[in-house]
Amino acid sequence: MKDNFIEKILQKTKINAVILASGRGSNARALFEYIASDDNLKSSHSWNLNGILSDNENAPVLQFAKENNIPSFYIPYSKDKNIPLSDRRKDHNHRLIEKIKSLNTEIDFVFCAGYMKVLTKDFLDFFHDKEDDVYRVINIHPSLLPSFPGVNGYRDAFNYGVKKSGVTVHFVDEKIDHGTIIDQAVFERMDDDDLNSFSARGLEKEHILYVDVIKKLQNNKYLIKNTENNRKYISYR
Ligand code: GRF
Repeated sequence: MKDNFIEKILQKTKINAVILASGRGSNARALFEYIASDDNLKSSHSWNLNGILSDNENAPVLQFAKENNIPSFYIPYSKDKNIPLSDRRKDHNHRLIEKIKSLNTEIDFVFCAGYMKVLTKDFLDFFHDKEDDVYRVINIHPSLLPSFPGVNGYRDAFNYGVKKSGVTVHFVDEKIDHGTIIDQAVFERMDDDDLNSFSARGLEKEHILYVDVIKKLQNNKYLIKNTENNRKYISYR
């Protein structure tokens, strides 16, 4: 009997991942730098990055992937307003699944790193672990969830006037910025901050936190527990 779904994955020596990203790609870079490092390569369960997928043809993250010989894929998302959003979303998610299937490797984890499109239940189901009822899809969000979900986490927290903010790595579920929290990191707002300096401080935390999470996953440091109100939370071994 395994403690959690991660142990099942760790029966293999290679853990296969893809990254979904829509833009700049600094989190994708942070993950890649770790995955390419000796630290990872010498681990008994090393991460393998099988590709970076983007809905944005001109995303700098695709350029970064090309420069670093990471397989990169532009997966179109129709902008045709005559087609209902739900259909366009469904079509895009279907294309994502087909591309991931075509990689001919079983993908263990999907890392969203600034991925600005909604993942559908069909997509998530493709990565569903039945025993733990978790989707093997992880996201990083620029606020201390559940505060400030949505596309402008830094801006919303800054404009609210928080004294401390943070970043969250979480499992993705059917609702936006809602799934089980894996870990969080906190940073302070300084008196002379503007939105740029505030966001930059947060972004540094993101890179450290996301890499820390994938290290802990590969070292089987997480246990999935249940709160009394039926949410899950992650504790450490
Ligand atoms: C990050 O702040 C991430 O938390 C948010 O979008 C931003 C993406 O930045 N979801 P990058 O593309 O990883 O540089």
